Amino acid sequence: MSDQDRLPVVFITGGARRIGADMARTFHQAGYRVIIHCHRSRREADALASQLNGERSRSCTAITADLNDEQALSTLGETALSCYQRVDVLVNNASSFYATPLASLTQTQWLDLMNSNARAGLFLAQQLAASLTVNGGSIVNLTDINVNRGMAGFSAYTMAKAALGAMTRSLARELAPHVRVNAVSPGAILWPEHVADDGSQDAEQARILAGIALGRLGTPADIARTVLFLARDAVYMTGQTIRVDGGRALS
Ligand SMILES: NC(=O)c1ccc[n+]([C@@H]2O[C@H](COP(=O)([O-])OP(=O)(O)OC[C@H]3O[C@@H](n4cnc5c(N)ncnc54)[C@H](OP(=O)(O)O)[C@@H]3O)[C@@H](O)[C@H]2O)c1
Repeated sequence: MSDQDRLPVVFITGGARRIGADMARTFHQAGYRVIIHCHRSRREADALASQLNGERSRSCTAITADLNDEQALSTLGETALSCYQRVDVLVNNASSFYATPLASLTQTQWLDLMNSNARAGLFLAQQLAASLTVNGGSIVNLTDINVNRGMAGFSAYTMAKAALGAMTRSLARELAPHVRVNAVSPGAILWPEHVADDGSQDAEQARILAGIALGRLGTPADIARTVLFLARDAVYMTGQTIRVDGGRALS
C-alpha cells in the first residue's frame, strides 16, 4: 500500500462550488483525499478535481447524483466507497434553498427541500456507517442558525434543516463510540445566488448585516475551518452544533 492509499478520505455533498468547494480545498490541504459530489455543477466539480489532482495525484474524484432521485441516492454511498475503498468523513453540505411562502408552498417544493437538506444525509450515513466505523470516522452536517430564529417564508427549508439537526443528535448516540456526529450552523456567509442583483435586496441585506455582532458576512473559510476542526480535531465532541455566525444569534 502506498502512502497515498493511507490518506483519509472525505466525501462532501454539494462540493463543487461556494462553501462546499472551499471545504474540499481545506480538507485537501490538510492531507485528505476528497470526493466531491455534485448535481448540476459537474463542470465546476471537474475543474476543482483537476486542480487538486494537479497538486497531488489521485487525490480527488468528482461524482454526480441528483439527491431527489431515490435510485441515485440509494447507490451514492457505494459509488463514493468505490472511489478509494474507504470514507473517513461524510460532510452533508448539499442544500436546496428558496422561499416557500405558506400560501403558495407545494408538496414538490417540500420534497425537494427535504431531500437535499435532510433525507440524503440520513441515507448516506446509513450506507457509509460501516466504513466510518472501521475508520473511527465522523459526520459533519451543515445546518443553519435560522432553524432556531425562525425565518418567515422559509418554513419548509428551516424544517428540513431542523431535521438534519435532530439527525445529528440521534446518530451521535446511535453510532457512538466509533463515529462522531456533529454539525456546523452557519449564519450569513454568502448571499444566495438567485437573489436579484438589482438593488432590490439591499435593504434586506443591510438589515441582516446590522444584526451581526462582528459587523460583516462570514467567509467560506470560516465554515471550512470549523468543519475540519469537528472532523479531525474534536475527538471528544459528538452530538454538538457549532454556530459560526459572527454573533448574529445574539441579536
Ligand atoms: N451560504 C450561506 O450563507 C449559508 C447560510 C446558512 C447555512 N448555509 C448552509 O451551508 C451549506 C453550504 O452553503 P452554500 O451557500 O455554499 O450552498 P449552496 O450553494 O446553496 O448549495 C450547495 C450545493 O447543493 C447542491 N444541491 C442542491 N440541491 C441538490 C440536489 N437535489 N441534488 C444534489 N445536489 C444538490 C448543489 O450542487 P450542484 O451545484 O452541483 O447542483 C449546490 O451547489 C448549505 O448546507 C447551506 O444550507 C449556508
